[in-house]
Amino acid sequence: MNSEAIRKDFPILGRTVQGKPLIYLDNAATSQKPYPVIEQITSYYERSNANIHRSVHTLGEEATALYEAARDMVCRFIHAPSREGVIFTRGTTEAVNLVAASWGRTHIQPGDEILLSVLEHHGNLIPWQLLAEEKGAKLVFLDMDEEGRLRLDKLDRLLTDRTRLVAVTAASNVMGTVIPLRRIVERAHAAGAPVFVDGAQMAPHIPVNVREMGCDFFAFSGHKMLGPTGIGVLYGKPELLEKMPPFLAGGEMVREVWPDRASWNALPWKFEAGTPNIASAIGLGAAVKYLDQLGMEAVRTHGQALVREALTALSTLEGVTVYGPPASEERAPLVSFNCQGIHPHDLAAALDEEGIAVRAGRHCADPLMKRLGVAGTARASFYLYNTRSEVEAFVQSVQRAIALLS
Ligand SMILES: Cc1ncc(COP(=O)(O)O)c(C=O)c1O
Repeated sequence: MNSEAIRKDFPILGRTVQGKPLIYLDNAATSQKPYPVIEQITSYYERSNANIHRSVHTLGEEATALYEAARDMVCRFIHAPSREGVIFTRGTTEAVNLVAASWGRTHIQPGDEILLSVLEHHGNLIPWQLLAEEKGAKLVFLDMDEEGRLRLDKLDRLLTDRTRLVAVTAASNVMGTVIPLRRIVERAHAAGAPVFVDGAQMAPHIPVNVREMGCDFFAFSGHKMLGPTGIGVLYGKPELLEKMPPFLAGGEMVREVWPDRASWNALPWKFEAGTPNIASAIGLGAAVKYLDQLGMEAVRTHGQALVREALTALSTLEGVTVYGPPASEERAPLVSFNCQGIHPHDLAAALDEEGIAVRAGRHCADPLMKRLGVAGTARASFYLYNTRSEVEAFVQSVQRAIALLS
């Protein structure tokens, strides 16, 4: 993949920070946006802006066609069997809340168990905590080994006749672990439990095939994969979604309404109440098209090469602890690390002085920080426009910061 050519598509990469060329390594938090995405959103507002699914005028029909075409692109991108199962949400977090509120409230009983992993981001934890509290259910956690791999050897023991759902991340936003989802899905299904997959850190980097994965629900966010903020996707098996009550209620999600009751619209619109984020959905369509044109296998290979280089170089620095599986294993393209005696925030501030953006803190994964016994970590996360020379510059800056701050 030609990152140098790709970089020209991303206007923000041309700017400087603190007088230095920007090196953006906070992609796991949100990615930058290429011209085709920015232009698609601008063109929608300049030429076709109207509400969707309700107006017979030309602009209304254009806007509806663009919005539904974006759904078809997303459907193909994740290999969903049908567009009925592809619901636009505000992001991964809203998708988890949708399933917890709708499926969870109707399926979870007192004493039931929901199986999560110790790797979960708060987005795939707090909604289940609230549901468990409301229903008198219990959360059970699959542990990891010291390098952040899930302890699949313990899975069968944790899957009991009380397990009603397995909700697990596809890739850890802290450890970089890529989870063997097929194996988890097979075993969960054998125990009679459906599987919810948090794909926020997978969809941007690894080809997604929900059919092959066999999961029941899959959620991801547009803004981490070149798309705009405020848009994400919940894929669900239509046979499950059909039986679930609505999440948000109001216009658009109804078929017929009487003063005292209503009937629900068909899928996927039953779960898209009110005016959706039309421009961002269309922008996500453009992002998916951009990724498709590059090829997700090429995106994956590029991310692997960068993270391997970063891991190998950081591991040679004295006093640096890196977290997660070794460079020989597949990883989400991110590396969390700590430098002895230096607070991750101080390190991130020192790197910012050199124009390098990394994340520092707890990464919305407090239980995982507690499990690791650290207050936080620094994290560099890569994407398709990052280059080997940026990784080198980053490692050299970490080295300088260590000399300066320790
Ligand atoms: C693994 C994981 N899950 C869920 C989320 C939440 O995504 P969003 O804030 O876009 O809803 C994130 C965001 O960082 C994440 O990394």
